[in-house]
Amino acid sequence: MRIGILGAGGMADALGTQWARAGHEVLISGRDLARSTAQAERMTSHATATPTHPPRSAIRGEVADVRVRGAVRGEVADVRAVRAGSWAAAAEFGDVVMVAVRQAGVTDVLRAAGAAMRGKPVIDVSNAEGPGGYDPARPLAGLIHELTGGHVVKAFNLCHVDVWRMTPPVFDGRPLAVPLCGDDPAALVAVRTLVTDLGCTPVDGGGLDRAVLLEATAAFMIGLWFSGADAQAVLPPLAHSGAHQP
Ligand SMILES: NC(=O)c1ccc[n+]([C@@H]2O[C@H](COP(=O)([O-])OP(=O)(O)OC[C@H]3O[C@@H](n4cnc5c(N)ncnc54)[C@H](OP(=O)(O)O)[C@@H]3O)[C@@H](O)[C@H]2O)c1
Repeated sequence: MRIGILGAGGMADALGTQWARAGHEVLISGRDLARSTAQAERMTSHATATPTHPPRSAIRGEVADVRVRGAVRGEVADVRAVRAGSWAAAAEFGDVVMVAVRQAGVTDVLRAAGAAMRGKPVIDVSNAEGPGGYDPARPLAGLIHELTGGHVVKAFNLCHVDVWRMTPPVFDGRPLAVPLCGDDPAALVAVRTLVTDLGCTPVDGGGLDRAVLLEATAAFMIGLWFSGADAQAVLPPLAHSGAHQP
């Protein structure tokens, strides 16, 4: 898959490196081409140097890609060099485009990226910034949908960037589950593949109208984490959720 990333910061680095390692083609973008190019070179060397894990989508045969099949045999995938370009270049390049810029820059970046994302799968990882930054009346996913005309899928916003660097993110033997909110079936298929390529399990979170709930969840959980509380401890296991008999 060709993945264009609007952003050259932490999330672009963490997720883009994982996807390059899994054999995808990645192009990142930032405000300064020299800085983004240096970042792309670091991503290429990390993707090449770090051992890969078997991408689950490849195990299930969803990805017909010889480079990824190589990774299943425990070999290092044929990593293509991560590239850097302008915002518009990343929007043009991607079969899938990920928006990974700070809230303050979203509108300007998407305007600069132009019309190329119309009708494409667009991954939105964004969260509101700072206390008071979250406004339930103005979901970031809705703004990104309006400005791009893309098939937006909200994903990857619930965990800190360091979790997305883990190969794979597994806690107490349980692979991390990643909820996806989006409306377009083809876009959801593409993003599910990218989730499984991290060694994670995709979870259906409903339509894009529910992305606001993912944004609210992140705002609430981040508040708990910063106050020193274990956000996971506030939720019961599935058997005690009320939806299933223990
Ligand atoms: N970090 C996390 O743990 C985490 C976890 C989940 C979700 N997220 C969300 O993911 C998105 C990206 O986060 P990140 O951690 O990758 O951020 P970051 O490391 O600070 O990178 C931000 C990117 O946004 C670009 N940008 C464009 N306009 C900007 C502006 N006006 N002000 C600041 N940056 C601007 C930056 O460009 P330059 O490259 O030119 O600086 C950079 O590429 C955010 O919405 C964040 O809420 C972050």
